[in-house]
Order: sequence, then structure tokens, then C-alpha cells
Amino acid sequence: MSNQKLLVTGASGFLGWNLCRIASNVRRVFGTARSRPESIPAGVSPLIVDLTAESERRRMLEESAPDALIHLAAASKPNYCQLHPRQTHRLNVDAAVALAELCASMGIGFVFASSDQVYDGNNAPYTESTPPSPVNVYGEQKAEAERLIRDRNPSAVICRMPLMFGDPSPSAGSFIQPFLASLKSGRPIRLFADEYRTMVGAQSAARGLLWTAGLKGRLLNLGGKERLSRYEFGLRLAAAAGADSSLVEANRQCEVAMPAPRPSDVSMDSSAAFALGYNPLPVDEELARLSCLNE
Ligand SMILES: NC(=O)c1ccc[n+]([C@@H]2O[C@H](COP(=O)([O-])OP(=O)(O)OC[C@H]3O[C@@H](n4cnc5c(N)ncnc54)[C@H](OP(=O)(O)O)[C@@H]3O)[C@@H](O)[C@H]2O)c1
Repeated sequence: MSNQKLLVTGASGFLGWNLCRIASNVRRVFGTARSRPESIPAGVSPLIVDLTAESERRRMLEESAPDALIHLAAASKPNYCQLHPRQTHRLNVDAAVALAELCASMGIGFVFASSDQVYDGNNAPYTESTPPSPVNVYGEQKAEAERLIRDRNPSAVICRMPLMFGDPSPSAGSFIQPFLASLKSGRPIRLFADEYRTMVGAQSAARGLLWTAGLKGRLLNLGGKERLSRYEFGLRLAAAAGADSSLVEANRQCEVAMPAPRPSDVSMDSSAAFALGYNPLPVDEELARLSCLNE
């Protein structure tokens, strides 16, 4: 077990829960929750923190005294951010930037989970050098946080994460959980055939984020190696779950009204991270490893 201490915000959430389960096998891990501390995995030292409160951010860092912080806590649903821009700005921008600044002053490594939603969706695949041009509030908040974090903490590592799938935490799932529930009960699912992503499994994403905690001052896309539409992904999911593929139906973005505009193709070119050692599993392989497919 390494002597290095890691602090993970959002440990009760989907990605944080997956990441903490891997990290706590090899090092001391502190994980935060705001309202659902019971979802923090066993073996992780829990901290209950409202990250929008300055005093609580400082207390969290003083209590855990980590070598590195992986900041995952966020208002992560684009539709919610679109409807509550000011409230979500406090967590997605103000708290993230303040944490990056605090980490710089305390000599703590800082990794920030940004999103492929900083890209506009019209010119994929995107490399890190494409200027952000988000089409929704969530993407705007991530782009603003990135810019201010780089300004206040030049050593920070910023990871643009793709759409992720995986086993759920006790309180937070990925986008596949409702689809799986439908497939298992024989109900059809409808997915966009005109929305493309370079999705990765949460285990690959978590390993990638843990690897970046050893870097300094980088901006990296951590996408997967395959560009798939959500519909194509649904067919892979059905096959992995042993479900009838005819239950997977295609629709188009314009058929579904949603509060947040959706970029159509935010596939990322992650070759910079691949060249440095990031190696996400192929989608089919990661799907085959999911416990939730066999429950
Ligand atoms: N999921 C994806 O496909 C995806 C794709 C690209 C980027 N990302 C980014 O990856 C990160 C993790 O996403 P996720 O899907 O795992 O999110 P999630 O499941 O929605 O989890 C959000 C986490 O944030 C915590 N939180 C919410 N408000 C808080 C506050 N005021 N103070 C402290 N903690 C608070 C929640 O704690 P409680 O539940 O305990 O209240 C929870 O642990 C986010 O930054 C997200 O933007 C996700």
C-alpha cells in the first residue's frame, strides 16, 4: 500500500464510487459526500462536506491532508444545469476554482473532471487544442472552470471526460441503468442514432484519472477509442446483457424536447493521453466486466 493519501470529492456519486473502489486497494483514500455518505465505498474514510461552503472546503483539506485531490463532485446533469444556472455555477465553477486555488497554496496535486460538453459538436473529432465552444450551460460552466483553474493553479490537471457507463453506486447510476432495467423486463429502448460519443467504462475512466494524478499542468481528453452513436452503443449493451436486439430502437435528437441543447458529435481524439499511457478498454470488454449485467 502506497503512503500517498488521496482525496476524492463526489465519492458517493457514480464515477467517484467506481474510482474509490479501485484506489482504496492501493492507497489511503478519503472520499466526500454531501447528502449520501452511506454510498461511499467501504475502506474509504468518509467526509461529509458541502463544497459550496468556503469553511468546509478548507476543513476537508486540513482534516485529510492529501497528496492529491481528484475533484469529481458536480451538478453533473446538463438539463438540471440549464434550468438552475446560478445554483449549479456555485458548485461547478466557484467551488472547483476555489479548491484548485487552495490546493495550489497547500502544495496538493489537483485533478479536475471536465467534460466533452465543452466542445460544440459540429467538428469532431476534437483534440485538446480546439477552443471550447459549448452549446449548453453545463458545458459553459465546465469551460469557465477550466479556464479559471488553469489561471489560478498552473499545475492542475484537467481531464475532459466522455460519456461514461458502468456499475452504479448505491445511489447514483450511469446512463445505462434505466436502459438495462427496460431490456431485462422486455421493454424497448430508444436511443439517438445521430448523437456520437467516445464513451468509456467507469473502470477505465477511473484508472485514467488516477494515472493523471501523477502528472502536472496538463489538459487531456480521456475519451475511449471507439466513436459510437448512442443507438450503436445500445446494440452493444443489449448483446452484452443477452437481451433481444430488436428491443433497441433508433430515434433522432430532434424528436425529443429537452431543456439543454445537446451537441451532436463530441467524439474526442484522445491520442495525446494514449501516447502518455492512458489505455481504456474497448467498450465490449468493459461491458462484459460489469456486475450489473448479471444481477
Ligand atoms: N457521468 C458521466 O457520464 C460524465 C461525463 C463527463 C463528465 N462527468 C463529470 O465527472 C464528474 C463525476 O460525475 P458523476 O456522473 O459521477 O456525478 P454524480 O453521480 O451526479 O455525483 C455527483 C457527486 O457530487 C456530490 N455533490 C453534489 N453537490 C455537492 C455539494 N454541494 N458539495 C459536495 N458534494 C456535492 C454528490 O454527493 P451526494 O450524492 O452525497 O449529495 C455526488 O457524490 C462530474 O464532474 C461530472 O461533471 C461525468
